[in-house]
Amino acid sequence: MTWIFLASLLLLSSLAETSYGGILLSSLPNTLDVAASPHQPDQFNTPNGTWYMSSNIKAGEDILGVRWSLNNRTFPVGTDAVYKTVTVKLCYAPTSQVGRPERKTEDDLDKDQTCQIEFYTGHYNRSSRWPYYESTLDGHVPAALYFLRAYANDSAGVVVAYGESTGPDRDYNIFEVDATEPTEASSGSRKTLDNICFGSFSALLLVGFFVAY
Ligand SMILES: *[C@@H]1O[C@H](CO)[C@@H](O)[C@H](O)[C@H]1NC(C)=O
Ligand SMILES: *[C@@H]1O[C@H](CO)[C@@H](O)[C@H](O)[C@H]1NC(C)=O
Ligand SMILES: *[C@@H]1O[C@H](CO)[C@@H](O)[C@H](O)[C@H]1NC(C)=O
Ligand SMILES: *[C@@H]1O[C@H](CO)[C@@H](O)[C@H](O)[C@H]1NC(C)=O
Repeated sequence: MTWIFLASLLLLSSLAETSYGGILLSSLPNTLDVAASPHQPDQFNTPNGTWYMSSNIKAGEDILGVRWSLNNRTFPVGTDAVYKTVTVKLCYAPTSQVGRPERKTEDDLDKDQTCQIEFYTGHYNRSSRWPYYESTLDGHVPAALYFLRAYANDSAGVVVAYGESTGPDRDYNIFEVDATEPTEASSGSRKTLDNICFGSFSALLLVGFFVAY
């Protein structure tokens, strides 16, 4: 009896595994051309061609620009008819994944850890060629090597296509984000915060001690 029960539990959990997997990246068409422009604040990209691509930018200070478009060399006009939104994320390049299981690449997008930092989400405009978005990076973006991935989702929010700012081996157009040096002021306030936390923690311990006895 127990044996049957255990066996059916096992069967159920394996079924659950297969039926609740996410969408596989390899099953999605790579229809979007994506270009990244990491650059300094005094460099301005222009519609007529000036396009900056620094290899290093500083989180919290420098600017990341991105533009995307349907790859109309391979895919017919109208391929993007159901695209409703575009979401661009920063993705760890292979070099920055080595020895880091928490950044591991998985084909199943529910498990994939490659692209964790959302950079942009907006309406997908079919009639706009190469829309452009730029922003400084949040100061907390980890120092690492990155590329960009754009997801095109349908009206139900389900991803139906994607594109990346690099090639299949993710080995070119990679850029580096350097951490911002902690300033005197911010490391000072951090220390105070740590002290307060530690203080409350010891107070709690004391209270616990008295309650216990
Ligand atoms: C490119 O366009 C910008 C404004 O969009 C203009 O200021 C600049 O002169 C143009 N450069 C060239 C080389 O045409
Ligand atoms: C394909 O895209 C290029 C620019 O990226 C544009 O000049 C051209 O008109 C497009 N072709 C079609 C058929 O839309
Ligand atoms: C889409 O892009 C076209 C061409 O750039 C522009 O005229 C139009 O206003 C845009 N539509 C929306 C909803 O942003
Ligand atoms: C689009 O799909 C991707 C992948 O599942 C997801 O990370 C993103 O949040 C979605 N964006 C929107 C606007 O639904």
